[in-house]
Amino acid sequence: MRRIVLGVLGLGNVGAGCLRLLADNRAAIEARLGATVVVKRVLVRDLDRPREIDVEPGLLTTDAALLLGDPEIDVIVELIGGIEPALTYILDALAAGKQVVTANKAVLAERGAEIFAAAEKGGLGVFFEGSVAGGIPLLRALREGLASDRIDGVCGILNGTANFILDAMSRRGLAYAEALRMAQEAGYAEADPTLDVGGGDAAHKLTLLAQVAFGRRVDPAAILTEGIESITALDIRTADDLGYVIKSLAIADRGEAVEAGAGAVEAEEGPPRLRVHPTLVPKGHVLAGVRGSYNACQVRSQGLGSSLYYGRGAGMMPTGVAVLSDIIEVARLLLARQPGDSLPAGARVQASASEPAPLDDLVHENYICVDAPNRPGVLGRVATCLGAHGVSIKYMHQDEPQGSDLVPLIMLTEPAREADMVAALADLRAFADLPDPPRRLRILRDLEDDG
Ligand SMILES: NC(=O)c1ccc[n+]([C@@H]2O[C@H](COP(=O)([O-])OP(=O)(O)OC[C@H]3O[C@@H](n4cnc5c(N)ncnc54)[C@H](OP(=O)(O)O)[C@@H]3O)[C@@H](O)[C@H]2O)c1
Repeated sequence: MRRIVLGVLGLGNVGAGCLRLLADNRAAIEARLGATVVVKRVLVRDLDRPREIDVEPGLLTTDAALLLGDPEIDVIVELIGGIEPALTYILDALAAGKQVVTANKAVLAERGAEIFAAAEKGGLGVFFEGSVAGGIPLLRALREGLASDRIDGVCGILNGTANFILDAMSRRGLAYAEALRMAQEAGYAEADPTLDVGGGDAAHKLTLLAQVAFGRRVDPAAILTEGIESITALDIRTADDLGYVIKSLAIADRGEAVEAGAGAVEAEEGPPRLRVHPTLVPKGHVLAGVRGSYNACQVRSQGLGSSLYYGRGAGMMPTGVAVLSDIIEVARLLLARQPGDSLPAGARVQASASEPAPLDDLVHENYICVDAPNRPGVLGRVATCLGAHGVSIKYMHQDEPQGSDLVPLIMLTEPAREADMVAALADLRAFADLPDPPRRLRILRDLEDDG
């Protein structure tokens, strides 16, 4: 029987999940492949650390060169995480002609240009299903299931920690700090939750989604990224009263056609629009019911229309499923080719670097909450300021004082341009008698095509 030989970097949560699944499902996987999958070595940091799964002690090593320099190893499975040394190991693996499977969204989003260029140079594949939405086969759906269609946009809940916190605030009436503590106690949030609650993790995933959906690779640092840290129990309660739930959404739309250069026959496609921010989602929307640490992504494509992908976005076994599926895919490709041939172009990521498109002309209705002193005239000045930027108020409510002389003024706006909202909020922030910056949340606008 032919053999596909793996070197695995990292035996933490995902590494252990992946190897456990391989052990549990080995017979079925090998029958489907017509080949045996051999784990030759596993790199760890600490040989003595207790493991979630039993591994032969001889399999573990702390010497990466034993994997990266082994000509018998076909595929390096990188499950260390972070930028270094993962980046160096991935580049070394590609330089040695090995295929790469990884669940590391950070390294792919931050350093994807180098990684995919090195893979392309060697005719090699980099597979990363586990890096976006954990166990949900979302990238595979975009790459394979929708290969026949043109994807217009994606809109998803891609960070389970943020969703867990917002859901706990909604369902239990908790303040943000209490919900974060609960997420940490339940193992859903890290001791330093910044990347999850600040939106950075979702921005990494959105970069990868846009790469697969639109063939454009955007620097995650250039993506508008707003976290959930300043959302209050009042925002959650008011949103509920008005028919919304607050979700952190990662949204990407395909770029619009732009005039091509002189002599070009067709218009070129412009850069995609990307953003990550907490959003008021109408309770009837499919994403509103995504609870706890689950992930979901709504995809709009021209032939299919709206489709939804839902499931566990993290965890040892769910992410193991995604990583092992990549291993099976690369094994199939390796078994089908002649030794030394490149992987087929369709199995490699084809994407060009791109700036994200400006968001100035995006139009949203908005929720605004201003904690204002309980004095005559303030409300009028706030409304005048918004009006001066072309932002009309369609609803206003003055809530109960919050234990001080500050009264929350809650407004919903008519549809307003992003650039106008940004300018109006900057002016509001300059009001000397408003102690805190106004909180503004966008309201999800595309209900019409969620079927
Ligand atoms: N956990 C999830 O639910 C999830 C979901 C989606 C994607 N991911 C991604 O999957 C990857 C792995 O995550 P994880 O949760 O499995 O991480 P983890 O539990 O922290 O495991 C990391 C593993 O890498 C090893 N390692 C770390 N630094 C190393 C170094 N310098 N040299 C050698 N080995 C080193 C560790 O060795 P020791 O065991 O000896 O310390 C450990 O086995 C990350 O990129 C993560 O973003 C995770």
